[in-house]
Amino acid sequence: MSDDNLLESFLFDEQAHSPSAEFAEQANVQDARIYQDASADSLSYWAKEAEQLHWFKKWDSVLDWKPPFAKWFVGGKLNVAYNCIDRHLETSRKNKAAIIFEGEPGDSRVITYQDLYNEVTKFANVLKSLGVQKGDRVSFYMPMIPELAIAMLACTRIGAVHSVVFGGFAPEALVGRVNDAQAKVIVTSDGGYRRGKVLPIKDNVDEALKANDSVEKVVVVKRTGSDIKMVSGRDLWYHELMEKAEVGGPAEPMSAEDMLFILYTSGTTGKPKGVVHSTGGYLTGVATTHRNIFDLKEDDVYWCTADIGWITGHSYILYGPLANGATTVMFEGTPDYPEQDRFWAVIEKYKVTILYTAPTAIRAFMKWGEEWPAKRNLASLRLLGSVGEPINPEAWQWYHKHIGGKRCPIVDTWWQTETGQILISPLPGITATKPGSATLPIPGIEVDVVDAAGFPMPTGQSGFLIIKQPWPAMLSTVFNDPQRYVDQYWSRFEGVYFAGDGAKKDKDGYIWILGRVDDVLNISGHRIGTMEVESALVDHPAVAEAAVIGKAHEIKGQAASAFVTLKDNVTYDDKLIKELKAHVAKKIGAIARPDDIFFTAELPKTRSGKIMRRLLRDVAEGRAVGDTSTLANPDVVTELKDKYED
Ligand code: WTA
Repeated sequence: MSDDNLLESFLFDEQAHSPSAEFAEQANVQDARIYQDASADSLSYWAKEAEQLHWFKKWDSVLDWKPPFAKWFVGGKLNVAYNCIDRHLETSRKNKAAIIFEGEPGDSRVITYQDLYNEVTKFANVLKSLGVQKGDRVSFYMPMIPELAIAMLACTRIGAVHSVVFGGFAPEALVGRVNDAQAKVIVTSDGGYRRGKVLPIKDNVDEALKANDSVEKVVVVKRTGSDIKMVSGRDLWYHELMEKAEVGGPAEPMSAEDMLFILYTSGTTGKPKGVVHSTGGYLTGVATTHRNIFDLKEDDVYWCTADIGWITGHSYILYGPLANGATTVMFEGTPDYPEQDRFWAVIEKYKVTILYTAPTAIRAFMKWGEEWPAKRNLASLRLLGSVGEPINPEAWQWYHKHIGGKRCPIVDTWWQTETGQILISPLPGITATKPGSATLPIPGIEVDVVDAAGFPMPTGQSGFLIIKQPWPAMLSTVFNDPQRYVDQYWSRFEGVYFAGDGAKKDKDGYIWILGRVDDVLNISGHRIGTMEVESALVDHPAVAEAAVIGKAHEIKGQAASAFVTLKDNVTYDDKLIKELKAHVAKKIGAIARPDDIFFTAELPKTRSGKIMRRLLRDVAEGRAVGDTSTLANPDVVTELKDKYED
């Protein structure tokens, strides 16, 4: 890892946007002293926030910190489903919409908190009847339909651990995750809609399970009515199980530090990491940030456009909003189906007030043109959010003007699968925003930008982003691999968390995230390890060696470019390029498919054999190639450059 990998910096846009007096006066957080108070005593700050949840038993100590292992709210007992559902039933929220579902074909369902209670308790009883016990793992591979939320909440109700696998992953990627988690049950569906076509979700599960011996039951939700094969004794229809299931039953009192879920994410090796989140700290972190950063009010209609297969969906479609008794919109479709105004149609239809989306989507909207949002009534919106990658100032301005009508504050929120909750973001009633900067660490969080030796970088200079203290929703470990947790996050710099991002701090202390500094790509806001793509390529019989880099991409932020050396006696042609791209999609999923494949006789390497990715990036992006003097084989780069220059 080196500074070489830091992405080009943005131009600092010094034009700050202060919150309007009108917004500031009604904001949930209005007093900037929250920062000083939280920093003077962060544990009391978080404890006060935790008190907003329902605890069956209060904690004995807020934090037990044996670096790098943290236990939050030790001795406390609570249940996530109880906090997200039961406690709202005793209030006027009982008949409030908890989930508004918009299906891709335009079907819609409103699920009140009472409905959610009924469905979740029923499925909790189903899980129990299938032999699922506290601590057992249940995997999910599903489209974005309400049953996904219901079944996840049902797991938390009985203390089972869910592991959601993004529905776009290929069978092999799915089974790797299911095997690692040793899941007993998979919840899936007969299919899913994607731009009017039906995805073969269940077939993928069948394919995946050929290489698995932990799964005993497959629960299948009927979504598309596709003709699928049900394996007798293993596969069960969700609706049949639910018909027989009873409503009600206890919510298991869980220890605050009990495992809540596992979510796999890409890292610097070929094997994704099972990031483990635990109960009390996670729920405290997501509920607090959701309330304060999105300025949640009782009558808001809140929409986070992420997929629940990623952390953003876990924390800010489900757990944060439901813990706060919000109305959360769940959308199955894509932004351009049936037309390029689908998001704006959904906002108009449900009078969405808060929209949380990703820069990659905003850049696509810019390309499609402002006439699409202009056709729709977006007057209900009052706050906008951004997540997943740095937002370029141009996209920020477009979002501000064409979606927010210049009246909505934008919260650019930085965080990760591992952090569980937002850590760097404006507080919309207080913080002046600067387009392109996630601004400041939230109250109770301390971050810094350091050099390779761990010393703070001077203002304006790029370095590594670190987090200086534990925070409630932090990952507790890597599933079955605590050493990887220690090595990956806490060993690069002594006693502090290494985020894997490059950043700068400006004169006002604002953080400007510059992108990953490790071998992780961020494609349309989705993390894909270069090693994963490389392994998929090398798996193809024609390939001898492969190096994958991220190349700047107008819409996706980054796209994968692959440099491939072929085995002797293999000749290359366009057909092989197509085949290799398809091979990656088949092994990992379409999101990992490289945009370009370059063939080369050799990869540029240092004398110690390390691939010089920086030079490959220069070639892929058509730049003048940087210093090649440390290469063992400097000619390779010139040859590559000559070959691929237009
Ligand atoms: C990037 C998604 C700049 C960053 C929540 C991080 C961002 C990675 C931002 C985590 C942001 C996320 N500005 N970069 N507002 N938000 N990132 O685990 O590189 O899918 O390390 O979590 O996304 O991606 P992950």
